Amino acid sequence: MLLVEDDASVRDTLTTFLELEGFQVVAAASSEAAFRLLASEPYPVVLYILEEAKRRNPGCMVVLMTGRGSMETVVAATRGGAFDYVAKPFDLDEILSVLRRAVAAQDPDDAIAEEDDLPESEMIGSSAPMVEVYKTLSRVAPTDSTVLIEGETGTGKEVVARLIHRNSARAAMPFEPVDCGSVASTLLESELFGALRGAYTGADRDRIGLLESAHRGTVFLDEVGDIDPGFQLKLLRFLQEREIRPLGANKSRKVDVRVIAASNKNLDGMVRDARFREDLYFRLNVVRIELPPLRARRGDVMLLAHFFLNKYNTLYGTETRFHPSAVPVLESFSWPGNVRQLQHLVERLTVLAEDKRIRAEDVDRALHQPTDAAPPSESLADKEIEQIQRVLQATAGNKAKAARILGIERKTLYRKLSKM
Ligand SMILES: Nc1ncnc2c1ncn2[C@@H]1O[C@H](COP(=O)(O)OP(=O)(O)OP(=O)(O)O)[C@@H](O)[C@H]1O
Ligand SMILES: [Mg+2]
Repeated sequence: MLLVEDDASVRDTLTTFLELEGFQVVAAASSEAAFRLLASEPYPVVLYILEEAKRRNPGCMVVLMTGRGSMETVVAATRGGAFDYVAKPFDLDEILSVLRRAVAAQDPDDAIAEEDDLPESEMIGSSAPMVEVYKTLSRVAPTDSTVLIEGETGTGKEVVARLIHRNSARAAMPFEPVDCGSVASTLLESELFGALRGAYTGADRDRIGLLESAHRGTVFLDEVGDIDPGFQLKLLRFLQEREIRPLGANKSRKVDVRVIAASNKNLDGMVRDARFREDLYFRLNVVRIELPPLRARRGDVMLLAHFFLNKYNTLYGTETRFHPSAVPVLESFSWPGNVRQLQHLVERLTVLAEDKRIRAEDVDRALHQPTDAAPPSESLADKEIEQIQRVLQATAGNKAKAARILGIERKTLYRKLSKM
């Protein structure tokens, strides 16, 4: 936390007290000093200087401490967005309980960071293979037919799945994605089919399965190739019968869901290797959409790059543009992470561009940056400090977002920040 207090004895007493209570305290004697600190690092809790702190770091919880405890100051503080207000003279226990509540009320910035990872339902690309995709998509969307979407990571499988749903008669009903790869197979069954109270240890209430909550809508079975053989059979039964029986239930019921499945592994090959049931493959593979890797449609690269550039310029209030020298570098890269990789690269370059231009050497550096390598020496280079500050400013202090833009892991960013 950042503590701002001009009275040296109050400042020292509070700092010592709060440190003993386990807070990490940085103290500032003046607003100027505090603003400098705020510009270089976001603080989860700030004691004092209300408006400026909020402006620089909108997510922080501000606790106001003042000698003038009048109705007006309290009202003004609350209107200015203060989390709480402590009048002087105060007692230390009161401060402590206010701060504990402030910390607890803090949003972990992960929640905000995940949001914009949701694929948007907008497809950019006008290359021949993409036009083929659009044709199939528009023909199949209005039907109830099962669709299998295949393609490498980051090619837009989830975008396509959402577009199919949005262009179907089910558009107003739920779209339920299930990441079959990240849910343990033991949990996948209750996740999809639901479970009655007491069906397994820890099931302390009925749990509605996603296949039921998607009733009359669409369920998106993502990474379907990761489902283990035992559960493949259960999924096959469901696709044949369109009935669910929650764990612990003795009756099954009909549900009306459309199934869209996606895989970044080649299911056909998995069937040949006997790792995926052939009968399930046939049930899923009614209509197949194969998303081409980005390197197979180089004509779309700059279209996408400009689309993302616009998006991030708007988001971060920047005016970055591509220098012509960047184009051949972007177009000739192999893009193993496909559109997602291009998107993240453009986000980073938009924020980090030094003279509002993205040049060939910037792209080169970003593409070949050893992103998580340890710094060569103990001290961080000025350049790196400046970059980190710029990114944190653009993300309003959101460290998860900043780490992603910088292309480093969050814990690496924390390490660097504490060094700074
Ligand atoms: N054609 C496109 N136009 C605009 N954005 C796209 C396009 N294709 C993908 N994206 C964007 O790229 C990112 C990755 O897309 P998506 O999540 O659909 O990929 P995926 O194929 O499901 O990848 P994975 O196999 O890793 O799950 C998303 O942010 C998405 O919005
Ligand atoms: Mg996906």
